[in-house]
Amino acid sequence: MPAGKDTTDPSPSSEELAAARLAAVRSALARLKLGPADLDDITAFLLDVEHSGSAGTIHKLPRAGHRPDKLLFVGVGAGDEAGWRAAGAKLARSASGEPTLTLLLPQDVTPAAVRGLGEGLWLASYRFRLGADEPPELRRVVLASPPGAADADLAAALAAAKIVAESTRLARDLTNMPSDEKTPAWFAKRVEKAAAGVAGLTTTVRDPKALAEEGFNAILAVGGGSTRGPRLVEMSWRPRGAKRHVVLVGKGITFDTGGICVKPLSGMKLMRKDMAGAAAVIGATLAAAALRLPLRITALAPLAENALGADSFRPGDVVRHYGGITSEIHNTDAEGRLVLGDAMAYAVRRLRPDAIIDLATLTGAQGVALGKRTAALYSHSDTLASSLAEAAAAAGESMWRMPLHDDYFEALGSDVADIVNSTDVGAGSLMAALYLREFTGSLREQWAHLDMSSPAWADSADGELTKGATGWGVRTLLRWLETSAG
Ligand code: BES
Ligand code: MN
Ligand code: ZN
Repeated sequence: MPAGKDTTDPSPSSEELAAARLAAVRSALARLKLGPADLDDITAFLLDVEHSGSAGTIHKLPRAGHRPDKLLFVGVGAGDEAGWRAAGAKLARSASGEPTLTLLLPQDVTPAAVRGLGEGLWLASYRFRLGADEPPELRRVVLASPPGAADADLAAALAAAKIVAESTRLARDLTNMPSDEKTPAWFAKRVEKAAAGVAGLTTTVRDPKALAEEGFNAILAVGGGSTRGPRLVEMSWRPRGAKRHVVLVGKGITFDTGGICVKPLSGMKLMRKDMAGAAAVIGATLAAAALRLPLRITALAPLAENALGADSFRPGDVVRHYGGITSEIHNTDAEGRLVLGDAMAYAVRRLRPDAIIDLATLTGAQGVALGKRTAALYSHSDTLASSLAEAAAAAGESMWRMPLHDDYFEALGSDVADIVNSTDVGAGSLMAALYLREFTGSLREQWAHLDMSSPAWADSADGELTKGATGWGVRTLLRWLETSAG
């Protein structure tokens, strides 16, 4: 091939692209009613900084004595939802401290772009402070749509972004809350309060007495060592005419000491986050109901504190789950799968859904395998697995499918019960998934498990994530529900 541009190639050169981008920026700026000299200065600035346009890069032009007194130029990458989400997150941080940010949306803005932008702005503005209800630093954002835009579609996209951000905020708040306050009863109350704000959403809370009457013995065993008794929250969204029913189950350990198999401090320090799965399924269901999605959804949050006390369950105990499966306890620190087993058996036997998805901060091994941002996905269904992976990609969350090796199952065998709750054969995240699979009954092929131990938490701010609880799963589940409904 000769060097240089092929004259038959219809795709624009990078200079042509840059010129087009500059023209688009100038036409947006024209809406500010700046003088022609101002516009030329700004153009010179833009040419000078060589803005790459990649998602989330920002250049700031201070203009002392002018209105507006600062101009920010932000890249949106390919201009897709992810690019706009990154841009929104970066803007929220760069403009914090400003009273108002006005965004001149370009002529070709789409509803998807606005949803990404809104999510980025709101999610990155999240703060968790105990006691004080501090307002976010950036108080006011004005989106100026271009002339001739389909404003109703853009407004609907923005409303959806707001619902995503608010339900993620609830999930983050619940997860960040210290465990001295965050008892199972406190969690259930917070959920009931949030649900009361959405028409048609109902919640039932089972206390220890109700759990005992109905045979949720694993939830009771795990919660037995704490004076703050366990609960089971059942949240239901049941719109008229719904054909499909999905159950979402989330691990809700309000603090995980490990129990009698107590954790070292290094492993225990952050264990207030061990209910992030429960927070995510509640957040996603609230959002789905707020968006009036036309499918039935039940969220189940088995809540317990895995404490060390005189009534703690012990290694060697045998627990009879809801529905009759028995588990021999090999390690009281493998408690999440025990409470999930009860809730999943209940879902399969009583609720008879079309699909069941569980989310859990289940194993340290998950983070060893996949690092800080990527959850482990397990499912026998290729359809379910790929639809979840697509939803995650669209939502800007990351997951990776892992195998469910049948020949590893043998290691879960017990001499005195149906299965043991922990093994020492390695593959910790996979073994936990195989354990949970025992509770899926007739829904074995319609089940997915997400081990989100490490992405539930961010050690520092990153894009739309703020330091601390991330609310991982709310966005993926909601996207998946949005596509499952249609
Ligand atoms: N909650 C932990 C898993 C965890 C670890 C979540 C780190 C987030 C970050 C879980 O209850 C647990 O203790 N799992 C044990 C299982 C083992 C005893 C089979 C683990 O991963 O070590
Ligand atoms: Mn544990
Ligand atoms: Zn745990």
